[in-house]
Amino acid sequence: MKKLCRRGNRAIAMGHVVMQIRIATPADADAIAAAEAATQRTPGLLVGHPGEIPVEAYRSKIAKLATDGRYIVAEADGGLVGHAFLDPMPMRANAHVFTLTIVVHPGHVERGIGNAMLRDLLDWAQRDARVGKVELNVRAGNLRAQHLYQKFGFVEEARFRRRVHRLDGVFEDDIGMAWFPRR
Ligand SMILES: CC(C)(COP(=O)(O)OP(=O)(O)OC[C@H]1O[C@@H](n2cnc3c(N)ncnc32)[C@H](O)[C@@H]1OP(=O)(O)O)[C@@H](O)C(=O)NCCC(=O)NCCS
Repeated sequence: MKKLCRRGNRAIAMGHVVMQIRIATPADADAIAAAEAATQRTPGLLVGHPGEIPVEAYRSKIAKLATDGRYIVAEADGGLVGHAFLDPMPMRANAHVFTLTIVVHPGHVERGIGNAMLRDLLDWAQRDARVGKVELNVRAGNLRAQHLYQKFGFVEEARFRRRVHRLDGVFEDDIGMAWFPRR
């Protein structure tokens, strides 16, 4: 089967599934929270521990970013397979800095979904004049994520030693990475 990713009117050949990227709605919050909790059970991927963030926080983030940033989900076969967002920092002095979060849901990794969501967000960041910089933190051992970020032009800016206390008790370094729109 040919894989297609649709973004707005665009259809992108992906390989093996039909996937669509759309703006998240508050109704997606439960599925997103469940997918993050499932992802968090594998140490070394996301910072949070399972169940730590209340579903209401996901709902309000989606609502806030409808105007202040961009919150997208990837859908395939009627279910969510990923979510990602760009969230501006809160103070005026650094409101041009948008923090990236990206999660491909368990069972769907390494099928090009992360690539498609990151392209969507960075295309938007390139077009939106409010964005002066995109930042993220990635666990030092998460080489798959670092590969994706480097492929899109993110560069390492910092290493925060023993910053993450994982579910399995290990302390892990965090790598700070950044991307700048070309203007
Ligand atoms: C990291 C993540 C967003 C990547 O998305 P994805 O859909 O799985 O990845 P894609 O299929 O788009 O691309 C994967 C790429 O990583 C490469 N890769 C896979 N494992 C790798 C590894 N151990 N080291 C280096 N590169 C690796 C693949 O070869 C592929 O490269 P290519 O596009 O150049 O061929 C996704 O795996 C994910 O959400 N994981 C769980 C949560 C997470 O780690 N989020 C990021 C937190 S900072």
